[in-house]
Amino acid sequence: MKIGIIGAGQIGGTLTRRFRAVGHEVFVANSRGPETLAQLATETGAHAVTSHEAARAGDVVVVTIPEINVPNLPRDLFAGVRDEVVIVDTGNYYPRQRDGRIDEIESGMPESRWVELQLGRPIVKAFNNIAAQHLLNLGKRKGTPGRVALPVAGDRAKDKKLVMQLIDEIGFDPVDAGALSESWRLQPATPVHATDLDAEGVRRALAEAKNERKPEWRATQNSTSTLVSPTQIVQEYFKAFQSGDVEKALGMLTDDVVWHVQGAPNVPTVGVRHGKEEVRKWIVNFPLNFKQLNFEVGRTFESGNEIIITGRFRLLVLPTRREVGSELAIHFILRDGKIASYKILEDSYALHLAFR
Ligand SMILES: NC(=O)c1ccc[n+]([C@@H]2O[C@H](COP(=O)([O-])OP(=O)(O)OC[C@H]3O[C@@H](n4cnc5c(N)ncnc54)[C@H](OP(=O)(O)O)[C@@H]3O)[C@@H](O)[C@H]2O)c1
Repeated sequence: MKIGIIGAGQIGGTLTRRFRAVGHEVFVANSRGPETLAQLATETGAHAVTSHEAARAGDVVVVTIPEINVPNLPRDLFAGVRDEVVIVDTGNYYPRQRDGRIDEIESGMPESRWVELQLGRPIVKAFNNIAAQHLLNLGKRKGTPGRVALPVAGDRAKDKKLVMQLIDEIGFDPVDAGALSESWRLQPATPVHATDLDAEGVRRALAEAKNERKPEWRATQNSTSTLVSPTQIVQEYFKAFQSGDVEKALGMLTDDVVWHVQGAPNVPTVGVRHGKEEVRKWIVNFPLNFKQLNFEVGRTFESGNEIIITGRFRLLVLPTRREVGSELAIHFILRDGKIASYKILEDSYALHLAFR
């Protein structure tokens, strides 16, 4: 079978390994691009591809990314993909640790129904209730006593049948957990979640589950909304940067952020900086070298996790007291609702002259 996997982390990487081990052809994607998946591809023989390619890989597509990132998937991810293709969601909603507030889920919508609405395609919920390490190691031959069972929920019988067949192939007993409207029975903190039960135990646990979200599994008053668009995130960053709120600006960057400013070495802000601590120094140093006279954002182009903004600035260079102005374009790449890469194009020659 041909299987696309969108997300190559703990679960996506594990499913790539398990599906390859039983002979399926796997097309795996992440947010940073296929070139970052060379190791997994070499190890498993999977094809490293883009998310669009994974969505078009063939018979089954597994979406296995943090809930917070689902709204950032390209809107046309499944455009033109055949209706029969089975789409699987492995997600769990962790409002406090990772995902922020998702109002619909807080109001009682099953997590996978929310994912289904984001993707605009019917989905099957599976693989969400087992730890990645256990999915990798606990598979057993069919008929082995105590074989761990995995519940599967969804509205289309033939889709569930196919996913259940895959689960059996990789060493687990599949259990039909009903329609997607019942899929709250599989969510975090239910009896079937992370308990590695056998088929009888899973059936019992599904029946005993209560449709309630305990307070510790809810977002708090302070949880920000997940549905913040990449453009809003970039605007918030600019606001924090310009008001001198260094901590807030840094809080909007990933830990491994890469900051590129090309230009002449006599301009102190030029260079490639890696990680928040190096970018902290860049942000703190900026007002020691420049007084901002004007900063205008022109147009914003958003595509998936990438944003390009155009605009212009006028600065007073403090060490030389010269003024400099330039058009600019900044390319941002976002990950997990944060800025992971910043690359500015500006008149670097004018800046070089202003510092001489
Ligand atoms: N870990 C577990 O034991 C476990 C068990 C059951 C269910 N789950 C659930 O399954 C989902 C995935 O969990 P995980 O632990 O595998 O996550 P993870 O280890 O954090 O990996 C997430 C993966 O998603 C990719 N990704 C993020 N945003 C993307 C985007 N917009 N487009 C394409 N790829 C994107 C990431 O790529 P980059 O690295 O390139 O950003 C990364 O490969 C979550 O909802 C989680 O709650 C996890």
